[in-house]
Amino acid sequence: MPKPLLCDPALLSRDLSGRRYVVTGANAGIGLVTAKQLALQGAHVVLACRRVAEAEARISEIVAEHPNAKLEARELDLGSLASVRRFAERVNADFDRLDGLVNNAGVMNTPKQTTADGFEMQIGVNHLGHFLLTELLLDLLKRSAPSRIVNVSSCFHDKAMGRDGDVKVDDLFYDQRRYDGWEAYAQSKLANLLHAKGLAKRLEGTGVTAVSVHPGWVRTNLAKHSMPLWVQDYVLRPFLRLGGMIEPWEGAQTTLHCLLADDVPKHAGAFFSQTGTYRDKSANGGGWPLRSPNPKANDDALVESLWKKSEALVSA
Ligand SMILES: NC(=O)c1ccc[n+]([C@@H]2O[C@H](COP(=O)([O-])OP(=O)(O)OC[C@H]3O[C@@H](n4cnc5c(N)ncnc54)[C@H](OP(=O)(O)O)[C@@H]3O)[C@@H](O)[C@H]2O)c1
Repeated sequence: MPKPLLCDPALLSRDLSGRRYVVTGANAGIGLVTAKQLALQGAHVVLACRRVAEAEARISEIVAEHPNAKLEARELDLGSLASVRRFAERVNADFDRLDGLVNNAGVMNTPKQTTADGFEMQIGVNHLGHFLLTELLLDLLKRSAPSRIVNVSSCFHDKAMGRDGDVKVDDLFYDQRRYDGWEAYAQSKLANLLHAKGLAKRLEGTGVTAVSVHPGWVRTNLAKHSMPLWVQDYVLRPFLRLGGMIEPWEGAQTTLHCLLADDVPKHAGAFFSQTGTYRDKSANGGGWPLRSPNPKANDDALVESLWKKSEALVSA
């Protein structure tokens, strides 16, 4: 397996005092490591989580070790547009700057379920909740420019457990086709990538840079709908590591690079990939950035039709 890509250590010791970031789904996994690293570099980090008590417990652990770390937990359920609006309203009221938004939270291969607004769960949480959140924080990000938006997508936007990644704009919620949890995950992760492209086009000249990332195959709670986590974390762990699974710290590297590296604004809308599994095996070593081997990821008409559909759904 190719070695994981790692951030330039100089970026991870850069002083971020005075900067503020929002990281969604930061009570666990890749989001937690990302939030902690930004805070250790002096930034104020808002952990936007549906389980606030869990986030507060994680913050207490970090602050016990690093008393100067500035982190706070705020409630955000991406499966409820009302919750997204409440969260954004408070952020806009309380803060005068936002240097980075990390759309990191996600669910994978869920049984067929719907969000509070009746959206299929994976496209609802992974894409539509983040789409609305980004729209509502965009003025603040523009006022804070140069600032960045990082959408945490996946190499599964290309192929997920044998399913080719596609976005069916006219049937996003599987009303007219048989539901498949992996296919729906691939659809939502392709939507994350297309969303970043749509943002980049609309944000040209504003100083706000939007990109998407594949964080790697990372040992987190994400697999909980696919296998018992004790099997992943204990029984299979050495074998999965040999197969390419990486730890959350390595999984946060691509997001941190996209938030901090100086040349990222030259690649607005691009996809940055940790090591992964792609249809085109030459992409498996990743790349910062990487042209996605999925032709749908490079389809400008799809970027626009998904944008229009998403806008209509979140404002309905
Ligand atoms: N792990 C991988 O191999 C891998 C590979 C490619 C891409 N990714 C992407 O990486 C991102 C982070 O996932 P992870 O691997 O760190 O998994 P994780 O440990 O399961 O973390 C996911 C986070 O999302 C949160 N979340 C789920 N539903 C939410 C909702 N309705 N509202 C707000 N937050 C919600 C979870 O909160 P709870 O704790 O409350 O559930 C958790 O904090 C995801 O977007 C995922 O698709 C991961």
